[in-house]
Amino acid sequence: MITEHSGIFHISTDAYSYLFKINAYGIPEHLHFGAPVQREDALALSCRPGLGWGCSILLDGENTASSLDTMMLEWSGSGRGDYRESPVELCGMPTDFRYEGFEILEGVAPMTCGLPQAHGAEETLVITLAQKNAKLQLYYTVYPTALVRRSVLTNTGEEPISVNKLMSFNLDLPGSFTMATFNGSWIAEMHRTDTVVAESKVVNESLTGSSSNRHNPGFMLFEADATETAGRVYGFNLVYSGNHYASAQRSHQGLTRVMQGINCSNFRKELQPGEAFETPEAVLCHSDEGFGGMSRNMHIFVNDHIVPVAWAHRPRPVLYNSWEGCVFDFNEHRLLDLANRAQDLGCELFVLDDGWFGARNNDKAGLGDYNVNKKKLPHGMEGLAHKIRKKGMDFGLWFEPESVNVDSDLYRAHPDWALTDEFPLVFGRNQLLLDLTKPEVRDYLVDSICPILDSAKISYVKWDMNRHSIALGEKAHDFVLGLYDVLRRIFGPRPGILLESCSSGGNRFDLGMMCFSPQVWTSDDTDPIERLDIQEGASYLYPQSTMGAHVSAAPHAQTLRNTPLATRGNVAFFGCLGYELDLKHLLPVEIKEVKQQIAFYKQYREVFQYGTFTRTNLGWQVTNGSTTLAGVFHRLVHAAPGYEQLRLTGLKKDARYRITSLAQALRVGQFGSLLKHVAPVNIDPNGQILRIADRHFTLPYGEDTLTASGAALMHGILLRPLFRGTGYDQNQRTHGDFGSDIYIIEEIAE
Ligand code: DGJ
Repeated sequence: MITEHSGIFHISTDAYSYLFKINAYGIPEHLHFGAPVQREDALALSCRPGLGWGCSILLDGENTASSLDTMMLEWSGSGRGDYRESPVELCGMPTDFRYEGFEILEGVAPMTCGLPQAHGAEETLVITLAQKNAKLQLYYTVYPTALVRRSVLTNTGEEPISVNKLMSFNLDLPGSFTMATFNGSWIAEMHRTDTVVAESKVVNESLTGSSSNRHNPGFMLFEADATETAGRVYGFNLVYSGNHYASAQRSHQGLTRVMQGINCSNFRKELQPGEAFETPEAVLCHSDEGFGGMSRNMHIFVNDHIVPVAWAHRPRPVLYNSWEGCVFDFNEHRLLDLANRAQDLGCELFVLDDGWFGARNNDKAGLGDYNVNKKKLPHGMEGLAHKIRKKGMDFGLWFEPESVNVDSDLYRAHPDWALTDEFPLVFGRNQLLLDLTKPEVRDYLVDSICPILDSAKISYVKWDMNRHSIALGEKAHDFVLGLYDVLRRIFGPRPGILLESCSSGGNRFDLGMMCFSPQVWTSDDTDPIERLDIQEGASYLYPQSTMGAHVSAAPHAQTLRNTPLATRGNVAFFGCLGYELDLKHLLPVEIKEVKQQIAFYKQYREVFQYGTFTRTNLGWQVTNGSTTLAGVFHRLVHAAPGYEQLRLTGLKKDARYRITSLAQALRVGQFGSLLKHVAPVNIDPNGQILRIADRHFTLPYGEDTLTASGAALMHGILLRPLFRGTGYDQNQRTHGDFGSDIYIIEEIAE
């Protein structure tokens, strides 16, 4: 709800209050963003500078407290005495925006520039500020668990205005914070880094043209004592897929200024009289219940208001993807064989990845030519899709529309469609970007992709993007707008297609893409131990339903690490499950295990994909109604480990629960010569007998069942012991390195 009373604006939901006032100088002064409070608290929550600080620039010489530098501001500017970072820069011109009026609109206020927006809001407050040649509007769109802010600058003068910076929001918070950012690179995305915010500025930004795997646009500010379940945490994110910028800095007065928006490095937008520039939406979340509370608020917001309506809360299919199993080497026969196997395992969707069009037999040629390779697929895409659908699976297809190989018919016909500059060409994965700022390029993409989607009745698209941009300034932003235009034109009329966006894995894991693409390929790294960091990093700001998570072969292609199939499954369960390996090489014991994994995942899919997610002391937990699933993950084991206590959260204290561990199969081969301790005969650890036995037999790893109250589970229950070198026993967790367990916790009637 939004209310205004005597110049005090109060935005309130069950989750938060946001308060600001228009002060005597027409400046919007921030009062509060946090736990729900009352409008009458305004004075108690406001900055009261008294006689102010010495050496200040004053708005009013009669009032020593009238320095912008010492106020909490909803917005600031340049050249009027606030020496903190300004959210707006008009090419060296001072700015002095003062209050003009407000409007409360029902729902979302639609943007006109083509940026994607969150949907399903209750109300939007628009505050209008003005100075002699420009109008600035601050938008506050209210969602139950998040506030969405953006700004719009309009040239109301008679001369052009050069904008070289316009942030989506400016927020001044009292207190000291640490900034958590999510950084990385290819196959190593989303690693959390914490930096204390002090008087020197902390910046989180991307300059690659995309939101990037180097620095995800999402970040958190938290107080030093915040934990998973308690303490003050703010979450921020941007509904944008291009270069982003965010900064936080504490002032001498103990106010932390935070802002986020389009990166202004090399950016300049020329606004003609009457023209306006709209910034992307920024998402602001708060919780006094720690990281878990903030994540819950952000997850609800993304699931309910970011992903396309047609896919909100819709179960995601278990898919098989051809890439890691085949790379470019396939034909219809091989694909149909894989599809048979995938279907037998329980997969619901078969995805043909790269290599199906033009001369695309490696990554040096063919990108841009979306004509089906008839040598590989003699019956065309329709023929293949039809045969796969007849097996009872849906069919999905890979595209990489934004790029082109120089060795392609498209580039030969239209070299000017590639995004280049006056210097020699520079390549990434042997490719250039197409200039999506050109309408004819966008038309080409729409016209060449849509017929394939329609004729082959494609129900899933993987939209890949494997090189960084070199476009600068306005062009970099316009490229992103061009991309959104193409996505909107292709998928708007086809809401039933599940779009999974990918950029060498998680190089564009952002809310802008998620407005079109309900799930994103989280990382090319499917090693489950690496994924513990990657998926956990992503989990702070993005729900499990957005994370593509696949089981692949071991040893792993990127780490050479050998991990149990159980752990590969157990980690991938906490996202949208898929399989990506050559199924022909699965052993009989593995086929049995994968079938069990898929059946288990389908049984609890709603809980894994949409349950409330928490990071526990030993791994992850998801809860949906009376069912909780907890994953306990181990990295390297230590000899003679002690007891482990598992602490869950969010259960009903007085309810009783049954806790069952998911049964696992232990491969006999992993025990090598240790088998002599349990086998009646001496088995050669390198011999044929053990190799054959390993294909067909497993040792049981029994289920463990207990009952406990919610109170006991939240206090922490002691798990069965881990293997300690004292023998094999079904009742211990015989793991070795990289082992894991899943616990199913169901509420039971008293
Ligand atoms: C990069 C993606 O991240 C992979 O999953 C795969 O689709 C390849 N591109 C195909 O070229």
